Amino acid sequence: MPGADLFLGIDLGTSELKTVLIDEHGGVVRSASAALALHHAQPGWSEQHPRDWWTACVDCLDRLCAEGFGARVAGIGLSGQMHGAVLLDAAREPIRPAMLWNDTRSEAQCRSLRANLRDFEGVAGNLAMPGFTAPKLLWLREHAPRDFERVDLVLLPKDYLRLCLSGQAATDASDASGTLWLDIARRDWSPALLQAGHMRREQMPPVLEACAAAGTLRAELARRWSIPAGVPIAAGAGDNAAAAIGTGAVAPGEGFVSLGTSGVVFVSADRYEPDPASALHSFCHALPGTWHQMSVMLSAAECLRWVTRLSGQPDEAHALAAAARLDAGQRAGAPLFLPYLGGERTPHNDARARALFHGLGHEHDAAALAWAVIEGVSFGLRDGLACMPASLRARVRMLDLVGGGARSELWAQLLADVLEIPLRVRADAAGGAAVGAARLGALAAGRPLEQVLRAPPAAQRVFEPAAATRELLRERHARFRALYAACR
Ligand code: XUL
Repeated sequence: MPGADLFLGIDLGTSELKTVLIDEHGGVVRSASAALALHHAQPGWSEQHPRDWWTACVDCLDRLCAEGFGARVAGIGLSGQMHGAVLLDAAREPIRPAMLWNDTRSEAQCRSLRANLRDFEGVAGNLAMPGFTAPKLLWLREHAPRDFERVDLVLLPKDYLRLCLSGQAATDASDASGTLWLDIARRDWSPALLQAGHMRREQMPPVLEACAAAGTLRAELARRWSIPAGVPIAAGAGDNAAAAIGTGAVAPGEGFVSLGTSGVVFVSADRYEPDPASALHSFCHALPGTWHQMSVMLSAAECLRWVTRLSGQPDEAHALAAAARLDAGQRAGAPLFLPYLGGERTPHNDARARALFHGLGHEHDAAALAWAVIEGVSFGLRDGLACMPASLRARVRMLDLVGGGARSELWAQLLADVLEIPLRVRADAAGGAAVGAARLGALAAGRPLEQVLRAPPAAQRVFEPAAATRELLRERHARFRALYAACR
């Protein structure tokens, strides 16, 4: 296709949908995003309507593909928030809002899964946790049996966008890993796990590798955006595996920390080494024959948003600026914060855990609370990193920092100090998953892997862990650990 030199990445996040165009060298040429609202109809519930995702997607692509940019697209890739259950009827219409990755209503159904299959966790390679997809369907079966009966097809969030874009139903192995229906070693649906979840294979889309082509744009959409007919849409990946493709983290020991709505420590691996008891996620990576380990906290940058609202600050940047003005003594004397606003996955797998400020005094103000919050989230990520198998941890030399929280130098330095690992923040760190999606689009369009991964986005800054605060942070982290144990 002459003149087709751009790749489109679409990342369906939780707080926003982001689209980017990258060129043959991996540089971001243009981007557009649209905010998404999150609905908590009841405590523990977290939902979005698939129709709102599609509206946001069309809005972004209308803007992104204007001025002749659409005509230059040679490949499209998808990335998205994992685990969400998009329930479609026989006419491919959503039956109800999607239950998302941070929805914890299905705690009891996790117990049912374990009861339905001997050594459930051994087969699944992962703990049955309420954020995953399978227990959500069991919840539906018990609480809304009529809706359950109508489920003809279950899709993950980004795969719903593919259905709207192309009419094709498909998923990829990295995203399907978060369902508790996948045989992660074989990278295909597991009959035993489907049966334990009362699901049938006919209700599942085919599982492809992330870089395989899975659909092309419907003709009217191709015309609307002037994208050439026949441009392939890659199967795409779960947002974390996509972010790893975006930073080029595919070799064992390479990975990233993500400060998004969720908080993730992600390390690539060349083999599947499940350790369900640790509450780590052992999932397929976005390249064939690769896997990854990841720890997931349910509320990371979300905690900062919460304390910003709570303390009446205009936005997170103001809250962080106030925290940055605290001196060393004030930081050492700040309250401790447990970041479990909506329960926690790694390391506790405790849907009922809740957040806590400990040690508040007359002297504490909004700045001290903001500091406590970013420190508490950093401690949670330290706990996640500590869950990694020692052999893999030993290979970690440096991690990229991605997600919205990566925009704060204060938080990046604190996190490097807490994790005791250098953190690299790149120019496009906030859009890592969208860039990864675009790279998967380039692979689906036939660009060679070495070329697509060779061009990492320009390094911006490395935050080295400081020795001066190490002992203090270790001591505060030990108190943080004890606090959760005491409150449980
Ligand atoms: C991963 C997870 C979150 C979502 C957020 O297991 O639940 O990171 O993918 O987008």
